[in-house]
Amino acid sequence: MSHPRLFVAGASGFLGKSLLNAAKKDGTPVLALVRTGSKAREVEAAGAEALVGDILRPETYLEGLRGCETVVHLAQDGSGPLEEMRRVRVEGGLRLVEASERARVPRLLIGSGYWVYGSTPGSITEKSEPRPVHLSAVNHATEEVGRRAVREGRIQELVVARPGMVYGPGSWLAGWAQELLEGTFRFVDDGSNFMSPIHWEDAGIALLRLAKDAPPASTYLVVDDEPVTVKEFATVLSGLLHSPPPQGIPMAKAREEWGAELAELNAANRSASNAALRALGWRPRFPSFREGLPEIVKALQVPH
Ligand SMILES: NC(=O)c1ccc[n+]([C@@H]2O[C@H](COP(=O)([O-])OP(=O)(O)OC[C@H]3O[C@@H](n4cnc5c(N)ncnc54)[C@H](OP(=O)(O)O)[C@@H]3O)[C@@H](O)[C@H]2O)c1
Repeated sequence: MSHPRLFVAGASGFLGKSLLNAAKKDGTPVLALVRTGSKAREVEAAGAEALVGDILRPETYLEGLRGCETVVHLAQDGSGPLEEMRRVRVEGGLRLVEASERARVPRLLIGSGYWVYGSTPGSITEKSEPRPVHLSAVNHATEEVGRRAVREGRIQELVVARPGMVYGPGSWLAGWAQELLEGTFRFVDDGSNFMSPIHWEDAGIALLRLAKDAPPASTYLVVDDEPVTVKEFATVLSGLLHSPPPQGIPMAKAREEWGAELAELNAANRSASNAALRALGWRPRFPSFREGLPEIVKALQVPH
């Protein structure tokens, strides 16, 4: 079977690396956009070909796009103000679309997130109405860049991936672990609101599957089989870390201490279904965080 080449922006990031690992195992060639020589060496070690450039400067990658089958947008800059995040996600997405059109790359996969749904009672499916607020509005606006590009005929096929809480060697899990070890982790009220985890490796395999096989104009949630309450996830994590157990904070106090935005984000209910992804033939290697978390915690770079 031939493997069409992927172009990945954000390849050196948390999700980018999970995708690169999956592509290497699958034999799918990847051209990885990176910003520095040291990141180039990292992605080369993960089996990709590196191209040094910047998503905001299409002249740095236009030639590389030629001959690629699918462009994947996983680039973000979360290190500064929200405007910088918006610039790399939304404006970067626009530049990527323009360059893809010029290079005649027909297909775009946008890595978004399940936060675009906001707090939702019951189960979230791809048919649930997005209600993006705060940070998730940036991801939703990035999705919109792709949808507009299809309407305008600039690209032919768009796939939107909305992963849940991807637990792996870094990202938000490292922050949770640090807070648990310091005894400062707090869930809101009784922590009975649901989150939808997915193991980092399974997320990478799912992204690859979506990049290659998802039907055009499709959106997929990327989560494992078992949504779990925030309290339960944090309690199991604290057990693995041998840290103090997590404690609750009343909503009113959370608003006071963290601000309304963060308090609401942490209290949101997000119980998502992977039925659509499963219908594509994807199966999680780690059906729930109970199977996947122990090994991940051993590899986490936090002192414990
Ligand atoms: N982490 C999760 O659990 C999770 C879950 C669901 C959805 N998501 C979504 O997935 C997307 C990626 O998240 P992530 O956690 O993988 O992010 P990340 O670890 O912060 O990685 C971001 C990547 O973007 C690159 N980048 C930043 N500015 C760039 C620029 N100007 N040009 C080219 N590349 C640039 C970074 O390069 P450097 O390596 O040089 O910094 C890095 O490779 C985001 O939209 C996020 O909301 C993440």
